[in-house]
Amino acid sequence: MDSKTIRQQFIDYFETKRGHTRIPSAPVIPQNDPTLLFTNAGMNPFKPYFLGELKPPYKRVVNTQKCIRVSGKHNDLEEVGRDHYHHTMFEMLGSWSFGDYYKKEAIEWAWELFTEVWGIDPGRLYATVYHDDGEALEIWRKIPGLQEDHLLKFGKKDNFWSMGDIGPCGPCSEIHYYCGNDPEHQDPAKVNRGDPDYMELWNLVFIQYNATPDGKLEPLEQKHVDTGAGFERIVAVLQDKHSNYETDLFRPVIEQIETLSNIAYEQGRDGMPHRVIADHIRMLSVAIADGAIPGNEGRAYVLRRILRRAARFGRTLRMKEPFLYRLVPAVVHILGDVYPELRVQREYIQRIIRAEEESFGNTLDKGLELFERFAKKAQKASGKQLRSKDVFQLYDTYGFPIDLTRLLAEEKGLSMDEAEIDRLMEAQRERARAAGKFRQRSVEKLGWTVLLENREPEFDGYDTFTTRSRLLKYATDSENSYLVFDRTPFYAEAGGQIGDKGHIRMQTRHGSKTFPVVDTQKMHNDIVHVVPGDIVQDVLKYDDLELQVNEGKRLDTARNHSATHLLHAALENLLGEHVKQAGSYVGPERLRFDFTHFRKLHREEILELQREVNEKIFRNIPVKTQKKHYVEAVREGAKALFGEKYGDEVRVVSMGEISCELCGGTHVDRTGDIGLFIIVNESSVSSGIRRIEALTGEAALRMMEQRQETLMLLRTRLKTEEGEIAGRILNMQKQIKEIEKENLELRSKLLSLDIDRYFRNKKTYRGVPLYINDVRAESMDQLKALGDKVRNKMKSGIAVFGTVIGETPQLLCVVSDDLVKRGFKAGNIVRGLGKALGGGGGGKPHMATAGGKDADKLRDVLEGAEDILRSEK
Ligand code: ALA
Repeated sequence: MDSKTIRQQFIDYFETKRGHTRIPSAPVIPQNDPTLLFTNAGMNPFKPYFLGELKPPYKRVVNTQKCIRVSGKHNDLEEVGRDHYHHTMFEMLGSWSFGDYYKKEAIEWAWELFTEVWGIDPGRLYATVYHDDGEALEIWRKIPGLQEDHLLKFGKKDNFWSMGDIGPCGPCSEIHYYCGNDPEHQDPAKVNRGDPDYMELWNLVFIQYNATPDGKLEPLEQKHVDTGAGFERIVAVLQDKHSNYETDLFRPVIEQIETLSNIAYEQGRDGMPHRVIADHIRMLSVAIADGAIPGNEGRAYVLRRILRRAARFGRTLRMKEPFLYRLVPAVVHILGDVYPELRVQREYIQRIIRAEEESFGNTLDKGLELFERFAKKAQKASGKQLRSKDVFQLYDTYGFPIDLTRLLAEEKGLSMDEAEIDRLMEAQRERARAAGKFRQRSVEKLGWTVLLENREPEFDGYDTFTTRSRLLKYATDSENSYLVFDRTPFYAEAGGQIGDKGHIRMQTRHGSKTFPVVDTQKMHNDIVHVVPGDIVQDVLKYDDLELQVNEGKRLDTARNHSATHLLHAALENLLGEHVKQAGSYVGPERLRFDFTHFRKLHREEILELQREVNEKIFRNIPVKTQKKHYVEAVREGAKALFGEKYGDEVRVVSMGEISCELCGGTHVDRTGDIGLFIIVNESSVSSGIRRIEALTGEAALRMMEQRQETLMLLRTRLKTEEGEIAGRILNMQKQIKEIEKENLELRSKLLSLDIDRYFRNKKTYRGVPLYINDVRAESMDQLKALGDKVRNKMKSGIAVFGTVIGETPQLLCVVSDDLVKRGFKAGNIVRGLGKALGGGGGGKPHMATAGGKDADKLRDVLEGAEDILRSEK
């Protein structure tokens, strides 16, 4: 039975026989949970249903979920390739009850599917229960066919499942399978002991608690079922294979690796490189299809690590050129029907992988060489431990992820000082943080004076530009005063939008006094106003302070911010779902938006984007902001950025059906306020990340005016209509080319006209006539053609021509046949002169050339040629 049928049978059983609704796999990049790097269990997307935060659309659901387990609580990376049944990316078949059926049905149906639909031998099956869970134990006892000694109790570690340290959890019951060759002599004591013959196939979790951050288990209002079956393992069992890599889910990839490397796959230890590569390429393909991309931080770095490990195992198989990307079609072939995003984005996935392989390729080889040296050194030393400094150097200079070096070390029986390496890495991170967040950190470190305790400033800036306020705390350094007020209209830099500028005004007896605010920064929940100079004394003197944001700049910024949201939506619409925001800058003068995409945008695409955004501006859609619960907002489709921390209550900025994002920034009231949107640049930031820069409102108008002016100038100069300008310039360029060509021919003719004149400047060299001429030739060919003509006409003698081509002085020497016979060599002559020009030369006895460096010396050299040649001898 092939894997497609097996998957389908699981779905069919729950859908048709047990009333479940089939839903598609969620992406492996969690869409609504910034605490999670990758979807690591089928239940992740359903967290809000379990916790009662959202009402589930169905009570019973069945699916197959792509899961990645390479980080956090569930991390299988170290096992991958060493054994035959752990993967970085696997499919979890799941059946779900949201407050509907519970333990009895979950257990009975799992058993029925296994033993009756799939005919798995019950004599090889084991059930485990949580030691406290008498209810599950009783249900299993009544299951016909489960042997009494195959029902086992375990503690928290094995039979209490939770997604992470916090969140939904509960006792579970697992089904294990004996896949060894000796079913007569099974040993129940080996279950859950890491023995590859006793393999977990299906986990039935009875969700009934929420683990809170203080370590408590809060009972949930309703009880739920979350089951997860390891699809690859089940396929291995049903296809009667001892290894997942032998099933049709992996075999075609392994075969492709064999073809590319010309090294056959082995089931044993030697097959590890094949297995690791086959595993990793699936994970990379799936993650990239869902919008992840290799890079230096967070999730991106996980992808980079996985790709580099795979690349290294490629070297073990003697593959030096990028090869991983060539495995993608095999993965797509196997999984593309169930996960069509793979098929749609095949080319994109290949490009991303190939670019990353290429960029790592060079340092990989150098790093591996270096590792060998480090390893030898360590082997000689007594402790057989790699020096931490060396491990760090491989990381820092050669891009070797620490786990890759660990792997290499283990292969050589070497250890590493993990604590020391952690310390070096942390120090490095600290340096990076210090460099990146210098300003912010230094603000935090200032000596703050607090006037009013426990007060957090209120931000009024969504509704007003001016606020009356009091000082809450302040600090100063040698340049600025830093002031926090109890309320303020100033927006502190966040989410790409820069901090506001404006004024602080105070009423004095003699009128008013004003100080400029040059920047506004966030410090935890405080909004810090940066004012040049020490103005604290002034501010303290007056109670009544007026804070005023620069209205024009703020409105310009709002235009750019709202336009950024429209651009984001338009990019996704035009280029596809893989477009993800990778950074942004929103200031009053312009906006910049970085996003994941694999290639340069075409001119038409840029125009299309511009058109789409402007079309939304012309429609004058109201921009709405609402406070919502995070879960609700994300469910309604609001875009959340990974890595941003969102509180429970979030602010949602939406523009009709077009755009909906979580955002704290300041926006226009209606899209029409943006006025106009013009893209001024599209460029690359790094591999797979593009940048668009654009203008709105006044700035866009000014830019258009400048362009208009240029056009008008061109019209006048070219004496033509606007539509004709491009054609006119093309014509002119063509004409110039023709004229240049003609000019060249004429000069060439001119050069060879009146050959006799080249015999006028006669000198002597070793008693024979030497003719020296400074000419204007355009190319060496022209010069040589002239040389030929002169030689033909010259009865007996030597002629030298000098010219400058481009910036380089060039010489040509010809010698008449009779003198060649007498032993004169053009090469020797030209070489001597070439030297004087700072260069060299050579050629045949009758004709030779030389080039020099210093064009200014040419005249002198030609004039002094006689002397130079004489002294040469
Ligand atoms: N959520 C359970 C697991 O991941 C099914 O094992």
